[in-house]
Amino acid sequence: MSESYLALVTRKQGEEYLTALQECRQDSLPENTVLVRVQYSSLNYKDALSATGNPGVTRNYPHTPGIDAAGEVVSDDSGRFRAGDPVLVTGHDLGMNTPGGFGEYIRVPVSWILPMPGRLSAREAMLLGTAGFTAALCVEDLLNAGLRPEQGSVVVTGATGGVGSLAVSILAREGFRVEAVTGKDDAHDWLREIGASEVLSRGELADSGKPMLRPRWAGAVDTVGGEPLATVLKSLDYGGAAACCGLAASPKLEMTVFPFILRNVRLLGVDSVEQPMERRRHLWERLAYAWCPEHLEPFLAEEVSLEHLQPWFRRILDGQVRGRVLVKV
Ligand SMILES: NC(=O)c1ccc[n+]([C@@H]2O[C@H](COP(=O)([O-])OP(=O)(O)OC[C@H]3O[C@@H](n4cnc5c(N)ncnc54)[C@H](OP(=O)(O)O)[C@@H]3O)[C@@H](O)[C@H]2O)c1
Repeated sequence: MSESYLALVTRKQGEEYLTALQECRQDSLPENTVLVRVQYSSLNYKDALSATGNPGVTRNYPHTPGIDAAGEVVSDDSGRFRAGDPVLVTGHDLGMNTPGGFGEYIRVPVSWILPMPGRLSAREAMLLGTAGFTAALCVEDLLNAGLRPEQGSVVVTGATGGVGSLAVSILAREGFRVEAVTGKDDAHDWLREIGASEVLSRGELADSGKPMLRPRWAGAVDTVGGEPLATVLKSLDYGGAAACCGLAASPKLEMTVFPFILRNVRLLGVDSVEQPMERRRHLWERLAYAWCPEHLEPFLAEEVSLEHLQPWFRRILDGQVRGRVLVKV
């Protein structure tokens, strides 16, 4: 007989999306190779989009969100993993249209599974989660584009968010001078503690209407899109590069091509979902060692159980979260 387990399930009722903890059956999980018992997950912006019915993330409801999961293998039909192996799953289709980490079990293809990297515990891995992995992708892409600390400062937008705060930390560890942009007036000291040399208010990146602005940064990690990204691109030094991964402000980008064709500015798109396993493995090793913040606890906004997660969906969509929300499953 199939065992039951608890999961947060979002359902559509009329025009509303309601999420509640409910009992599910393991035999209702998709027919994939590896059954994993989830110990920790985390809340990402995308999870809140899924839990509130954003069709760009999840098409079919009822659905269990959670794009991150860390735990141990229960069984693996492919024979690659043994029961009890500590593992990590982020991205792919997890939590989008495949039941995700906000449930006690997931069943996923073996190709989605990463053995737990280095010395990380399930809790530490989820404090980093997709946010940490995305921040690492952004920084590595900037390094691959030739950006070096001696060329100038790097600006990070949405700096108190999950991706933003971990990008600040990783860039500082790589020796960059980081300018952090935030909408939270009470988070300036915290941003300095995690690695920022300077903190700017979000208002400084408001649209100027000009095609180009005074060059002020060698590089950028942008997690918000919209006007702030346009202002950043117009303000990059000659040959500067910006890694763009998010849309917390807006998915739109309205500007001219002048910074690209007159200043040789480069815009690097970053996606964490479809990255090949080899790059995941390599970047998670970096996250476990060289790029792991010395102390992870300052990045913890709150540790919540599945039962108490729901109010955080609205908070993260409203840009109110500082750092990472850890989910103890
Ligand atoms: N491409 C990928 O694979 C990938 C992976 C992960 C995340 N993402 C995207 O990256 C973004 C950040 O994700 P996250 O999980 O780090 O979310 P998060 O923790 O909510 O961080 C977003 C931050 O953006 C800032 N912000 C919010 N609303 C804003 C607005 N209207 N204008 C300007 N800034 C605003 C806030 O920081 P301040 O208050 O400090 O300004 C907020 O904390 C999201 O759009 C997410 O979908 C993409």
